[in-house]
Amino acid sequence: MCFSRTAFFEAHEDRPTNPSRATPMAILIERRLSRRGFLKGAGGASLGLAGLAGLGPLSAGLAQADDGDRFAFDEITHGLDETIHVADGHRADVLIRWGDPLFADAPEFDPQHQTAEAQERQFGYNNDYIGFVALAGRDDRGLLMVNHEYVSRELMFPNLPMPKDEFDHSDLSAEIVEIEKAAHGLSVVEVRRDGELWHYVRDSPYNRRLTPRSTPMVLAGPVAGHARVQTQADPDGRTVLGTLNNCAGGVTPWGTVLTCEENFNFYFMGDAEQHPEKDKLARYGAPTEANAWGLYDPRFHINEEPNEPNRFGWVVEVDPHDPTSTPIKRTALGRVKHEGAANVVADDGRLVVYMGDDQRFDYVYKFVTRDRVDVVNAKANRDLLDHGTLYVARFDEDGSVHWLALVHGQGPLTEENGFASQADVLIDTRLAADALGATPMDRPEDIEANPATGKVYVMLSNNHQRSADRLNPANPRAENVFGQIVEIATDGDHGAALSRWDMLVRCGDPANEAVGAKWNPATTANGWFASPDNCAVDARGRLWVTTDQGEKWTMSGTVDGLWALETDGERRGTGKMFFRVPMGAEMSGPSFTPDDTALFLSVQHPGEDESADFPGRTTPASFEDPATRWPDFDDAVPPRPSIVVVTRHAGGTIG
Ligand code: FEO
Ligand code: CA
Ligand code: CA
Ligand code: CA
Repeated sequence: MCFSRTAFFEAHEDRPTNPSRATPMAILIERRLSRRGFLKGAGGASLGLAGLAGLGPLSAGLAQADDGDRFAFDEITHGLDETIHVADGHRADVLIRWGDPLFADAPEFDPQHQTAEAQERQFGYNNDYIGFVALAGRDDRGLLMVNHEYVSRELMFPNLPMPKDEFDHSDLSAEIVEIEKAAHGLSVVEVRRDGELWHYVRDSPYNRRLTPRSTPMVLAGPVAGHARVQTQADPDGRTVLGTLNNCAGGVTPWGTVLTCEENFNFYFMGDAEQHPEKDKLARYGAPTEANAWGLYDPRFHINEEPNEPNRFGWVVEVDPHDPTSTPIKRTALGRVKHEGAANVVADDGRLVVYMGDDQRFDYVYKFVTRDRVDVVNAKANRDLLDHGTLYVARFDEDGSVHWLALVHGQGPLTEENGFASQADVLIDTRLAADALGATPMDRPEDIEANPATGKVYVMLSNNHQRSADRLNPANPRAENVFGQIVEIATDGDHGAALSRWDMLVRCGDPANEAVGAKWNPATTANGWFASPDNCAVDARGRLWVTTDQGEKWTMSGTVDGLWALETDGERRGTGKMFFRVPMGAEMSGPSFTPDDTALFLSVQHPGEDESADFPGRTTPASFEDPATRWPDFDDAVPPRPSIVVVTRHAGGTIG
């Protein structure tokens, strides 16, 4: 019997740690103003918040329910094979792959002779979120800021022994740890369309790799300098080396990108019994044997550096326009296993960041800035995310959403209950949210607002551990393998303490009554999906959803992909399949250019998920024997996580 590290990771994701059981306007602003707007604003054509209110007519147009099919494409079919598929009339081209050189002097990809130094000059592994930031307000030139969430060690390195169990780290060495660190983090890369085709610019001055190996980042906000984030290497508690397990994110109206630290617990090993904050660590699922970097780097061993885990689990702001800038961990937004940080400007001009904490029985959050977004002067928003209020959601049966403020001194968040300051509330965000009685959800993943309608879409991926006696109206199914999408209505008042919620779809096969799925009856046998993960709202206000079923793909019989989903009118709740990944991959990162003529997609970990179950296979995939060799299909090259760009033949709007 072989030990599958992939299955082990999924088992850890399965482990709930909550014992209580208790493009947004940003993109619209960006599309309408973009750098262009700031440049114009700076140049004199002032576009204040009154200018934003000018979105009115456009908003009304988008909000208008259209009873017809808002998606013009013919859908593709569910299926399972070694390559990608996109709806007719579109083309899908590989834009950049793991190992592609980012700089003129970067080494070419050579999977047999990897080094950390080479990897730091090349595109990283397991690309996830993609933030597109237009350059000079153009739709055909921009910067992609890409998350590299984690590595699939068994597919990445040749000649590895197969571990016997989770405590067997014979597949690890000091050298591999350094290469893995270099493959994590972020890439910033310039992309351009020349004629019909997009390509990345190898020697662009904007290109950058940011890694947990070599990129210092600053802690800002209420936690900066606190004793609980001080370490031997950083006695001031203000500078952290890098970022980890970056999942999804969001682009701000001022052109920076937020990137989210998700399963940071996977990187910290050690003996919990010897740790002074054992229970607090346990609420975040740490320590684990998952990556075991601590064997070679004491920073990742909780008994050597007890505070290092407190320095991860944050939302990090990066300025992709300045390759010398220092990324900033914005601690005011709380410390959880952050999925995403899509954001929207509320009617009153404040920025609201919606965030999911991706774990079974964990919560939905929003952060509301104290001050308004300055749409004229981008630099004036520099510290906007350091001041504001973090809220956690309680979904009630009467359809209301109560946003509960995580503020030190209010309600139970007092010293007697273990919260001596706002820094404690934020470092222990999960514990503070437990104390407030937030609603335990079915793995909150990506959350996106439709700025035109004020509606917000919450992807709830799955929770097969929810038992029948622990249901609640927003999480209504026991042993929920398939997930659901909850809609929050705000009327544009995103900062309000009270919203309304409704169920958009309950995922899974509607033809199988036992599944308990709910779709619009117009949904075809290919239009339904399972385990929603990331999502995007395009410039026309249409919702697109990607899936991540993990090993549970066997329950649906199809690989992951991208679906269009109607949100309004008679077809509300109708899905349509647009794109399919190679087997073993998950689909993430949907990101449109401002004019919707190009769509960037992340094909993450091709060949990975329980590949022994794929037709014709009996063993887990490895470097030598992968389930697919997409995208190169070269016998000497393993599968490579890659970004795909979708365009229409002869131009035109996607979908
Ligand atoms: Fe990294 Fe929650 O997916
Ligand atoms: Ca994902
Ligand atoms: Ca998203
Ligand atoms: Ca997921």
